[in-house]
Amino acid sequence: MANILLVSGHPDLNHSLANKTILTKMEESDLPFTLRRMDLLGWDFDIAREQEYVKQADIIVFQFPLYWYSFPAIIKNWVEKVFAHGFAYGSTGNALKGKHLLLSFTVGGGADHYRKDGQNRHPIEEFLYSFEQMASLCQMKYEKPVYSFGMAYIPGVSSEEDRNRVTDLSISHAERLMDALRSLRKKTAH
Ligand SMILES: Cc1cc2nc3c(=O)[nH]c(=O)nc-3n(C[C@H](O)[C@H](O)[C@H](O)COP(=O)(O)O)c2cc1C
Repeated sequence: MANILLVSGHPDLNHSLANKTILTKMEESDLPFTLRRMDLLGWDFDIAREQEYVKQADIIVFQFPLYWYSFPAIIKNWVEKVFAHGFAYGSTGNALKGKHLLLSFTVGGGADHYRKDGQNRHPIEEFLYSFEQMASLCQMKYEKPVYSFGMAYIPGVSSEEDRNRVTDLSISHAERLMDALRSLRKKTAH
């Protein structure tokens, strides 16, 4: 069966509702996966060890909260170091070839913010071109991303109702992600 590597890009899961709930739901499930947490790894880590995790994986999931229309700096730092030239790309960089890349992320803004006439002026997919191209350069298969809108919860500011809504959305996000991973695992069974 295909191995799943889930790279969690939240910088502080102790101060997270959405990503924390998604990861907890996944850990409670019977879906096997290896988890790398940026909030525990930090900025400076053993690159070769992370590359070993990558090599063992068939499916790589980036799980993150959308920050400034992209992934948080701490997971970008991991990608910059781990997906190195000669490993991930370049004439001798074939370590990621044929692996699947699946983005799973939470979006603070509502769906109505991500329209041509909305606050963010572009549909969410248009903010993902750099990820699609990262996958292409690394000879990976870019999978349909799993994302949820309206996921911002600010303690002391948001209401209890918001807390419940974001929790419910996070649970259904985790279910959609697990469904996607289960069907991908079936397709890539070896
Ligand atoms: C530094 C920072 C940048 C953010 N940038 C965006 C953004 O560009 N677009 C957006 O819709 N939400 C943005 N948000 C909201 C987060 O996406 C949202 O709070 C997060 O997905 C909730 O997940 P969590 O509970 O796991 O932290 C941002 C939040 C922070 C703290």
